[in-house]
Amino acid sequence: MTNLFSTPAQTDFDLWVKLKQARIEAVLDQILPSAQTLPTDLHSAMRYSILGGGKRVRALLCYAAAELYCPQSSSTNITITDIAACALELIHAYSLVHDDMPCMDNDDLRRGKPSCHKQYDDATALLVGDALQSLAFSILSKTDLTNNAQQQLLMLNLLANASGSQGMAGGQAIDLAAVGKPLTQDKLETMHRLKTGALIEVAVLLGANSAIYSANPNNKDSLALRVFAGNIGLAFQVVDDILDVEADSNTLGKTTGKDAENNKPTYVTLLGLMQAKAYAQQLHTEALLALTPFSEQAQRLQQLANFIMNRSF
Ligand code: IPE
Ligand code: IPE
Ligand code: MG
Ligand code: MG
Ligand code: MG
Repeated sequence: MTNLFSTPAQTDFDLWVKLKQARIEAVLDQILPSAQTLPTDLHSAMRYSILGGGKRVRALLCYAAAELYCPQSSSTNITITDIAACALELIHAYSLVHDDMPCMDNDDLRRGKPSCHKQYDDATALLVGDALQSLAFSILSKTDLTNNAQQQLLMLNLLANASGSQGMAGGQAIDLAAVGKPLTQDKLETMHRLKTGALIEVAVLLGANSAIYSANPNNKDSLALRVFAGNIGLAFQVVDDILDVEADSNTLGKTTGKDAENNKPTYVTLLGLMQAKAYAQQLHTEALLALTPFSEQAQRLQQLANFIMNRSF
């Protein structure tokens, strides 16, 4: 007999998340070369690394930010917002494949499966990351995506900056250089804002710019969205540090205790669990405050901020 209380009721937000996750999965499936296309091993490893897993938080933030300005279509036509969301997930998946390699975090488990370099090999994992990154920029630069070339160039530029040496890759470099060294809170914040925050921040900005292009990236809305996304991006990595200590590997889909094993400075090592949680809460509050100028159109962004805080994986 079905126990009515065993499955929590599906909220409107749960359904929205499922719908968008399915949409991203379908578009990614269509965009990625088939595993039968040469070179087959590389394409198979790319598909292995990005399909069928992950919460798709960056894609969801992109859709939610686009919804601030216009209702998102549920038609099967692929939109510029879909492409931006896919590009974000491609860059993110590339960062995870490289992050797990023996030369970085040496992690065997990702999204509940062997990491890419375990399932394939190191050289393949290196190339998977390279190719996923190129694919992100390839789909976002297609000439038939929009007839507003300025909009497209701005989006490409935002994504490139968030991914590079002053964004995600730079944060990863700081992370590796910090192994075994205690960091000040300022330095730790910079590291987290770059390695994780930058891509989360740009997810929101790409979503907004896919729906309403603004020639002035410093307008009032963009600034408010940057404050929202910057705070929630930092909170995301603080929660990731906490989960590494508190969660179990099965639920998390990655090996827990890895930060301690690798001697990484984290918010837990710096502040302790209780204070790290309080700090994440404070960032969450500040993020929500930044959404005040927006109407109820910002509901999805609020819900995603709550999801980022309360997640167990
Ligand atoms: C994990 O990101 C790596 C970090 C930046 C903390 P996610 O927790 O978003 O990973 P997936 O995409 O859901 O697997
Ligand atoms: C990873 O941070 C950030 C990026 C991949 C850019 P972590 O190393 O903490 O991520 P997990 O815990 O392995 O997912
Ligand atoms: Mg890492
Ligand atoms: Mg890692
Ligand atoms: Mg982590």
